[in-house]
Amino acid sequence: MALPPGPRAPAVLNTARLVRKPIETLVAWHRRYGDAFTVRWLVFGTGVYVADPDEIRGMFTGDQSTLLAGEANSPLSPVLGQHSVLVLDGPEHLRQRKLLLPPFQGSAVAAFREIIRDVAAAEIARWREGGEFPIRDRMRSLTFEVICRAVFGVTEPERVERLRAALLAVLDMGAIFFAPSFMRVDLGRRSPWGRFRRRLAAADALIYNEIERRRHAPDLEQRTDVLSLLLRARDEEGEPMTDVELRDELFTMLAAGHETTATGLAFAFDLIPRHPEVLARLRDAPEDDSYLDAVVTETLRVRPVLDAAERTLAVPRTVCGYDLPAGIRVYPAIACVHRREDIYPEAERFRPERFLDGKTTAYTWLPFGGGIRRCIGAALAQAEMAEVIRAVVARVELEPLRPEPDPVVIRGITLVPKHGTPVRIKRLAGTPHELVAA
Ligand code: HEM
Repeated sequence: MALPPGPRAPAVLNTARLVRKPIETLVAWHRRYGDAFTVRWLVFGTGVYVADPDEIRGMFTGDQSTLLAGEANSPLSPVLGQHSVLVLDGPEHLRQRKLLLPPFQGSAVAAFREIIRDVAAAEIARWREGGEFPIRDRMRSLTFEVICRAVFGVTEPERVERLRAALLAVLDMGAIFFAPSFMRVDLGRRSPWGRFRRRLAAADALIYNEIERRRHAPDLEQRTDVLSLLLRARDEEGEPMTDVELRDELFTMLAAGHETTATGLAFAFDLIPRHPEVLARLRDAPEDDSYLDAVVTETLRVRPVLDAAERTLAVPRTVCGYDLPAGIRVYPAIACVHRREDIYPEAERFRPERFLDGKTTAYTWLPFGGGIRRCIGAALAQAEMAEVIRAVVARVELEPLRPEPDPVVIRGITLVPKHGTPVRIKRLAGTPHELVAA
């Protein structure tokens, strides 16, 4: 079977190019080779990128038993666990997903907005005029705290801190999940895998402790955090989630939800100060949710946090006229679709207005993937981005420290601003009104 055309360079060169300039590289290949192109990668092997929204719709809505997503995430199972929604496929995936979805739907997420506003206000209160820092670091700590409070339901500062230290110690060893299997052997506390196992055991002990405490909390029935909702949830057979399932999903939400949202916010704070007309409009109408939401939507369009979703074909499939064999990976190419000129004229420009007429469709705007694997935290992430942008814009004059937008590069599997978006706090207003009036 002939695969679609694509760059002929060896895997090592393709990978080096993608890591340094992911968006430019994928967009250039899309222009050159068309809506389906084949790329050879290090580690991940050969894959076919698909940038045609109709084909992507077919993949997201078709029979999912032939399009596997969990299998591709299996290197993450040592940390996320066997029951993680990210590593499962088929009926087991659906069972976990159905249990997880309710706490992340509209009305539940509305309740989280207050937590987000509190955490954002406390974060800004620690900033000082003249202070300089990569804003992604600050956003990482903010989004971690939101997950701790909204998902774990933990608010006491010392417990948040203990969870933060233990969980980040595990996640910061992320590269090891992709190491060859001979390195994944526990040779004692000094070996990388041994260190990882010990950190994981320490983090797990804290998570199981939170689950146990919550199970016996006198106000369990009234609580609205995700852990409490999951403890009360029952599947179709009336069964509750086991402690191991709860642990795996809590870890998954933390791993999938905190850095991604922090990166989205860092991108937003790189773009907004460089577009005075956008900043002015946000300040002119701080309660105009439709414009604020358009800013979030446009940020995730020009700066998606993941360049592509990923599926593995369980059976042969025809994609864009090419007969692809079973076993090959296909990538719904988020970054390429978002830069299509036929859908987004002047696609490189940051222009939130384009979303004011509500023209997005699930298959032309897909920073959260789609179908039965669509990101569970999408509504929470968007609410979080909107509330944090609203809080910062109202009180802070940010000045990017780099003359040009921070280049987008790949770290791990996500797109990030290379330097973490370094900014200076030029001015800090006591009340939202002071800055708007100035
Ligand atoms: C801006 C922030 C975020 C971005 C860009 C993002 C993006 C994505 C993408 C592209 C996928 C894969 C979808 C697919 O394969 O079709 C995904 C899956 C997932 N995300 Fe997010 N995400 C974000 C925030 C969050 C948050 C806040 C949470 C939870 C608290 C979360 C939890 C998950 C989970 C559990 C999955 C797996 C869903 C499944 O396999 O059924 N994400 N996310």
